[in-house]
Amino acid sequence: MELKITTLIENNPDEQGQLLFEHGLSLYIETAEKNILFDTGESGNFIQNAKSLNKNLNTLVYCVISHGHYDHSGGVEKLLKYVDQVPQFVVGEEFFKPKYKTIDVPGYQYNGNSFDEEFIASNQISLRKVKEETLYLTDHLIVFHHFSRYTNYEVRNRRFFIKENSKFMPDDFDDEISLGIITEKGLVVIVGCSPIAIINILKTISKRINIPIYAVIGGTHLIEADEKRIKKTISTLREMNIQLIATSHCTGEKGIRLISEEMKEQFQYNNTGNVIEI
Ligand SMILES: [Fe+2]
Repeated sequence: MELKITTLIENNPDEQGQLLFEHGLSLYIETAEKNILFDTGESGNFIQNAKSLNKNLNTLVYCVISHGHYDHSGGVEKLLKYVDQVPQFVVGEEFFKPKYKTIDVPGYQYNGNSFDEEFIASNQISLRKVKEETLYLTDHLIVFHHFSRYTNYEVRNRRFFIKENSKFMPDDFDDEISLGIITEKGLVVIVGCSPIAIINILKTISKRINIPIYAVIGGTHLIEADEKRIKKTISTLREMNIQLIATSHCTGEKGIRLISEEMKEQFQYNNTGNVIEI
């Protein structure tokens, strides 16, 4: 199946400096069957970029949101106002749990969605809360959920929390979902931020589905990783024989530099406006 992925918004500007950019991620995915939006960035500015890039948001069948952090779900309300045809929203069943962090400033800072489940229901929006570990949306589109922990070097950031019964509990990111797209070259895996860690995600997927992973596109959360962890990550990507790594967002400058040095032409810097055709 032919596949085209356009980065509508991301942390880094486009080469021509004509598009908006922000801390966040939003990808417009065109397949032979359906068009999908993966994440909505922070502010809704991805809509402006979609117009500039001639990407029609009224053709979307699904809006998949990787997890309930503001930099991935922040554009939802503006998307709903903008489109005539509202896509089905696909999220992990834990998506609406209130999320916090203790990074940058002292105390618990809200880091979650700007809307709740009631808002979605009151607007009669079709919502698919994924309970399954592996869910086929179509023959070629798969949602992966509930990832296992395989590595000892991918230590999770314990400064992210969910609030449950008035208590702040460490966030295990159970809501995180990734999208798999089956192509003739293999499976293309789309990730949002990968706070569970990218190798854990890829190992889980490769154990669940008997199709080699051809490409990984999105954020890999290596921003807080030291050089040792990044190098272990790269060597595992090689072992898994992944042919294309197109990352940005929370991958961080060091992660991007090391992956691009090691993977060479197998690496693509997936900044705002970048287009990948598979
Ligand atoms: Fe993020």
